[in-house]
Amino acid sequence: MKTKASAPGKVILFGEHFVVYGVKAILCAIDKRVTVFAEENDTGLISISTEIGDLELEPNISISKIEFPLRPFYFLANEFLENNKGIKIKVESDIPLGVGLGSSSACCVAAAAAISKLYAKKSTQEILELAIKAEKTIFQNTSGADCTVSAFGGMMIYDKEKGFVNIDTKLDFHLVIANSNLEHSTEEVVAKVKQFKDKNEEKFSELCTNESKLIQNVLILLKEKELEKIGKQVILNQKYLEQIGVSNNKLQEMIKIGDSASFGSKITGAGGGGCIYALTDEAKLEETLNKFKINNFDCFSVKIDSKGLDTF
Ligand code: PMV
Repeated sequence: MKTKASAPGKVILFGEHFVVYGVKAILCAIDKRVTVFAEENDTGLISISTEIGDLELEPNISISKIEFPLRPFYFLANEFLENNKGIKIKVESDIPLGVGLGSSSACCVAAAAAISKLYAKKSTQEILELAIKAEKTIFQNTSGADCTVSAFGGMMIYDKEKGFVNIDTKLDFHLVIANSNLEHSTEEVVAKVKQFKDKNEEKFSELCTNESKLIQNVLILLKEKELEKIGKQVILNQKYLEQIGVSNNKLQEMIKIGDSASFGSKITGAGGGGCIYALTDEAKLEETLNKFKINNFDCFSVKIDSKGLDTF
């Protein structure tokens, strides 16, 4: 039997970093996907083929001995393998890797769906739980937010304590994603923000209050479909991120370009590198893309993905 599943990446629209300290964040799935193909065979081996590396190994090896980015796939295959059978997994992705666009979570969701389907019928919720377990082999402290938005698609509000609530929005928008091509480690940037917080308790607490208000405003503006006004909140959220020190010269140059052509732009994800997004409508899309291109920045446009996990 052969199976196939695909799952979308994500952007954090508002609230990164502050979400670590209890503020809500807004995320949405994007129409860039990871596709995983799985097939059972008689080799007795787990074989994985991806753009970032391959492996072929016996089952039941300690996960710590598996090459880091391939751990979720090996973990999932090992969970299901039985009767000396083997599994072959192939991964294709159109999400750039390691830049905060949720590629590893999309891999976990698509792999959990494709591999489990070889053996049993599972609900999206069950697949999500498996995917989060798999993601923990590489990010022990994952909140599960990225896997959740990838599995169910659409837009959601995430609260560390209360979990996820879907946001039912009819707002039509495009995001232009521009990549700084600067490597960043989410863990390191989160640690840097903690240092800032510890040194500037009062300032940080004021910023958290402001960010909470901003998120509440955005939720109202989403209902009212006020794209231009949401753009103003994007610009404001970027200012808060700058104040906690997660921007840098290259990201600032990109934000300047984004703001000049779109409704507003900000870092998405941890910052320190990675990507920014610029919020546009159909009319501003080409100009926004062109402005990044003529300044030699890698960019592409995405729309919200409302499908989430797709299993074939
Ligand atoms: O870089 P990403 O997309 O993995 O986002 C990190 C988001 C943070 O708020 C900075 C950290 C977190 O765990 O929420």
